[in-house]
Amino acid sequence: MALLKRSAWYDTARNNSWTPKYVSFEELYPRELSDIFDLPLEEWEKFDEPYKDTFRDYVHVQREKDAYAYSIRSALERSKLYDVAHPGWRNLVKAHYGGVSIVEASAAILQGRFARFSKSPAMRSICVLGMLDEIRHAQIHFWFAYEHIRKDPQFDWAIKAYHTKNWVAISVIHMLDDLEQRDVVSSTIMTNLIFEVAFTNLQFIALSADAERSGDHTFAHFLQSIQTDEARHSQICLPVIRMMMRNGKKAEAQEVMDIAFWRMYRIFALVSGNAMDYGTPLHARERSFKEFMQEFVVTQFERQIVDLGLDRPWYWDIFLRDIETFHHQQHIGIWLWRCTLWWDDCAGVTAPERAWLEEKYPGWSRTYGRLWDVIAENVAEGRLEKTIPQAGALICNMSQLAMSGQCGDEWDVKDYYLDHEGKRYHFASEVDRWIFTRNPDRYKDYPSFTDRELAGEIPEGLHGFLTFMGLQPGYDTGTCAHGYSWIKDYYPKEAAE
Ligand SMILES: [Fe+2]
Ligand SMILES: [Fe+2]
Repeated sequence: MALLKRSAWYDTARNNSWTPKYVSFEELYPRELSDIFDLPLEEWEKFDEPYKDTFRDYVHVQREKDAYAYSIRSALERSKLYDVAHPGWRNLVKAHYGGVSIVEASAAILQGRFARFSKSPAMRSICVLGMLDEIRHAQIHFWFAYEHIRKDPQFDWAIKAYHTKNWVAISVIHMLDDLEQRDVVSSTIMTNLIFEVAFTNLQFIALSADAERSGDHTFAHFLQSIQTDEARHSQICLPVIRMMMRNGKKAEAQEVMDIAFWRMYRIFALVSGNAMDYGTPLHARERSFKEFMQEFVVTQFERQIVDLGLDRPWYWDIFLRDIETFHHQQHIGIWLWRCTLWWDDCAGVTAPERAWLEEKYPGWSRTYGRLWDVIAENVAEGRLEKTIPQAGALICNMSQLAMSGQCGDEWDVKDYYLDHEGKRYHFASEVDRWIFTRNPDRYKDYPSFTDRELAGEIPEGLHGFLTFMGLQPGYDTGTCAHGYSWIKDYYPKEAAE
């Protein structure tokens, strides 16, 4: 039997709208879940996805992709790559699995909500395939991560991380809920445009380049297999943004984008910035975090938003300064608080690494470098207890990350606070505070780590603190990835002893 060409039946198959008989249209597509901007229904009917796909073609391509990624994995498992990998790299992979696996699973739910609540039949159809993408991403993450669990219990955090009150998990969940728990229009801009177009490129393409150079071909192919899906389904947002622009909703689209961009950026700076500038072995670093940001986010993303008729976020200058500073500040805190992590953290400050940092970030030595000098001295003198903070950090009520600022001569540490309904909220930046003011009711009741501490929710002492975060001291708590061997560049005699 001859098969019809796809173009002959595609439009009919995806236009599956009908007039509901038992409930009203508004009940079927509630405003707060579908479209808070009240875009006209005729506009939704015109939605035309930028790429066409059918279930048959989709399954065919995905099956091949999966088969390829899994075959590379089994070949490389036999080569024992993991056992000989650089500790920095091994831990970067662990941090990635814990940080990203469940996020993929949550993206499947999000695409499922688009498939249910979008007012456009074409968007609903294509989002079903987006949902299948994300289910595959979550499963492939779990599958690859759990391959290593026999050797290292920290890989268990691929599933565990977001079921705990670990501070990294709390911070990511707060950001993700903010982006994903909105109506279809806002969420597609916040996740497809910001998360997937602007930032997963960075994590997946840049990190896969570093993976290739580190000799970890499994991880490189694994990332590429996912990124090809992300690059495709991220385009789902484009017709929606154009619809907003045609209907006089530019300011609304801009605000949604500005909120999501900053929130995503700060988390990525923490995760990818740390991985690229400190965790990746020096010989494998293709570019610095700042250079990757400049290429993938500043140049490529900026071009895209201008094409769409949107403007750069109002805080663009703050952002450009931030990509040179924020992740260095956070890295010091992350390493000092290494026992609260599900991976062993790389200090990444041997003499050649410091030279690289100074070259990529002129002034690094006189700011962050001098703090590392103090840390190194404490390590060399055997005063490890002095390298673990004795008091919790002040946490930003938006990012849920420790407040940090510039140290050294360019001292710039500031609490951007706001008093609201009798309570004082603390923010790590002007932008975090601005986001709060857009919708205080959305954010005001969320307890930060500091709030939880003050409310007595967290048991006393380091042991209680770690247990609260789901860690088992001495079993899966993080430590220095290199067993402090990096101090030999500072104190060769002490290191030998
Ligand atoms: Fe994904
Ligand atoms: Fe995605």
